[in-house]
Amino acid sequence: MNVFPQRFSTCIYPSISAQLLPHSHRIEYIMSSLPPQQITENHSVDAEPNMEDQNVPGLFQPLQVRGLTLRNRIVVSPMGMYSSYPSGNLTEFHQMHHGQFAFRGAALTIVEVTAVLANGRSSPSDAGLWSDAHIPSHKRVVDFVHGLEPTAGGHAKIGIQLGHAGRKASMLPIYPGHAVVRAEKADGGWPDEVWGASPVPFKDNYVVPEEMSEQDIQTVVQAFGQAAARAVSAGFDLIEIHGAHGYLLSSFLSPASNTRRDAYGGSLENRARFLLEVVREIRSSIPDTVALSARISATDWMMHAPETPQFTVQDATQLALVLADSGVDILDVSSGGNNAAQRIPSTPSYQTSLAAHLKTALRDAGKDMLVAAVGRIADARTAEAAVGEGKADLALVATEFLRDAGLVYRWAEELGVGMEWPRQYVRADRGAGARMGTL
Ligand SMILES: Cc1cc2nc3c(=O)[nH]c(=O)nc-3n(C[C@H](O)[C@H](O)[C@H](O)COP(=O)(O)O)c2cc1C
Repeated sequence: MNVFPQRFSTCIYPSISAQLLPHSHRIEYIMSSLPPQQITENHSVDAEPNMEDQNVPGLFQPLQVRGLTLRNRIVVSPMGMYSSYPSGNLTEFHQMHHGQFAFRGAALTIVEVTAVLANGRSSPSDAGLWSDAHIPSHKRVVDFVHGLEPTAGGHAKIGIQLGHAGRKASMLPIYPGHAVVRAEKADGGWPDEVWGASPVPFKDNYVVPEEMSEQDIQTVVQAFGQAAARAVSAGFDLIEIHGAHGYLLSSFLSPASNTRRDAYGGSLENRARFLLEVVREIRSSIPDTVALSARISATDWMMHAPETPQFTVQDATQLALVLADSGVDILDVSSGGNNAAQRIPSTPSYQTSLAAHLKTALRDAGKDMLVAAVGRIADARTAEAAVGEGKADLALVATEFLRDAGLVYRWAEELGVGMEWPRQYVRADRGAGARMGTL
């Protein structure tokens, strides 16, 4: 049953080719952009091409969100690459980085958090879209991904995460095991221009942010809208708002970092006002066909200190219901990053239960917003358990894609789904080898 009748559909006919390989009764279906009755002998169909076929693992079902058609549910989560020093432009590195995932079957790859204002970069090496001058470098990456030969049943899509680092800005790139060091002016940093909800630093070594005026807030709201319009002109298929991990919008949501007494602080309604204004500004700056995602931290992970002001799962639930009515199509459920004292139970797929909780709440309230799970989804079974069992609609994967850019093919094989390989690599397709015989 399609529970997303308005904006979302799983019953679509993208150019997708997949074979299910339970060996005794292999079902092969090849989807084309044609309706099923028009499929020619070039597209052998042993079974009715029904993307809601129970035999197709949920992870490999396509999905339509507004004008965006995803060939499966596996998405490359945004990852800051610190490779845009000092201009904020994307480079050939980003073409290779996103191109490898797109070429190897990911439905969508999301460009790292990209600053909507120069002072919203976490480091001087961050990507940016605060000026029209950034558009060409982004467009080159988008065109590169869109220009790849369609494989794995359809064209890969590319999205972008827009954000403002807030009180986490003006740091040197942060790598595990390395010291956390502030970017001073001599490093290309801007420690005098770091903005936050309140003058509360994230932790030692971070800048004490300047409390934003309402005018500053409106500057950021408009900057999100302008950056989103630029992203659309660069050709991105999806825009994601970074409202998680203690970045600016997330720091407004949490009472740990937001002690304001104006319309943007205090009640949850007030703390969420900034994010909702950004959502509205972006939606009014982009065409209806462009999908909009919002990443949130569904908890501050401060349950061990109940007396501490914190953003809770209950807050996230209320926020999700409001976001669903605000033009957000996908809720990307992450967590933490706003309180240095957080205690994260970092077990496999540890955030999926948060996604499942929010998805259930949305469904119970009759809201048609999709939910993405992310966080230590590192193997096919875990990903299929998230999507196939209906805990989430999409599986976002970060570090495992860095380990293996071809994980979609590996996961497909593990789940018994035969995917169409890029023609240049088709000799690696064990299924195709068997069909071709010995060469
Ligand atoms: C190198 C790296 C950079 C990241 N940069 C971002 C980012 O720009 N925006 C964001 O929301 N999350 C970022 N994350 C978090 C990931 O998107 C993801 O949520 C997290 O790594 C958990 O997924 P995983 O267990 O599959 O790695 C980053 C993670 C990594 C490993």
